Amino acid sequence: MAKVRVHNFTVSLDGFGAGPNQRVGHGLGDGGEQLHEWAFRTPTAGRAFGMDVSEAVEGVDDDFWKRGDEGIGATLMGRNMFGPVRGEWDSDPELADWKGWWGPEPPYHHPVVVLTHHARDPIPMEGGTTFHFVTAGLEAGLQQALDAAGGKDVRVGGGVSTVQQLLRARLIDELHVAISPVFLGSGERLFDTDYPGYDVAEMVAGDRVFHVVLRRG
Ligand SMILES: NC(=O)c1ccc[n+]([C@@H]2O[C@H](COP(=O)([O-])OP(=O)(O)OC[C@H]3O[C@@H](n4cnc5c(N)ncnc54)[C@H](OP(=O)(O)O)[C@@H]3O)[C@@H](O)[C@H]2O)c1
Repeated sequence: MAKVRVHNFTVSLDGFGAGPNQRVGHGLGDGGEQLHEWAFRTPTAGRAFGMDVSEAVEGVDDDFWKRGDEGIGATLMGRNMFGPVRGEWDSDPELADWKGWWGPEPPYHHPVVVLTHHARDPIPMEGGTTFHFVTAGLEAGLQQALDAAGGKDVRVGGGVSTVQQLLRARLIDELHVAISPVFLGSGERLFDTDYPGYDVAEMVAGDRVFHVVLRRG
């Protein structure tokens, strides 16, 4: 049966998955870009994001990053992860044509379902990614992603609110968190309660982050 998986979701030492004030140029909020420095120093993520990988090292962190792409047929994400537009899609004329953070060819290459309260037509992108906007709620959005995945697993891309809702509803099978050695002080905290029913399945020290995998019991 297809699984619902979260991978490489990075939190600070004080538990934040994004800093405050998400906006254009600072999608992860104030200070949030530090969270993913570990990933950009792996060959796989470094190449995917067009970084210089001459000093990138293979190893535990790279292996975890790669696991996030294996067997995935569709992605589910919240509207804030898709971009900085809030309210109506045309609320800011400069962002009225927003098509995600990732440029003309996003690194998904499969259907991406975006949860939102604001309807919008699907946006086909280069390379096989199409963004579909679902206003019918969490479970309807997840079902659309599962249908689109065609029997493969669904990856939950984030952000914090979306992961929390799915955990609360016990709809996530596996959640990999990378704990990054930085403090953010404020922002969006990933674990806002104890989420009963999830067990720690793996704990591994990587090169730059500590990896914890939770599985639904
Ligand atoms: N640290 C990491 O590894 C990581 C990974 C991914 C993302 N992030 C970061 O996380 C931040 C975004 O997280 P977030 O918690 O602010 O928001 P989010 O989960 O990305 O999106 C929340 C928004 O999605 C829509 N939404 C969510 N659930 C819905 C539902 N059940 N029904 C209808 N609409 C729903 C709502 O938008 P509307 O009501 O406005 O339509 C809601 O305000 C960004 O900074 C992103 O870069 C971090």
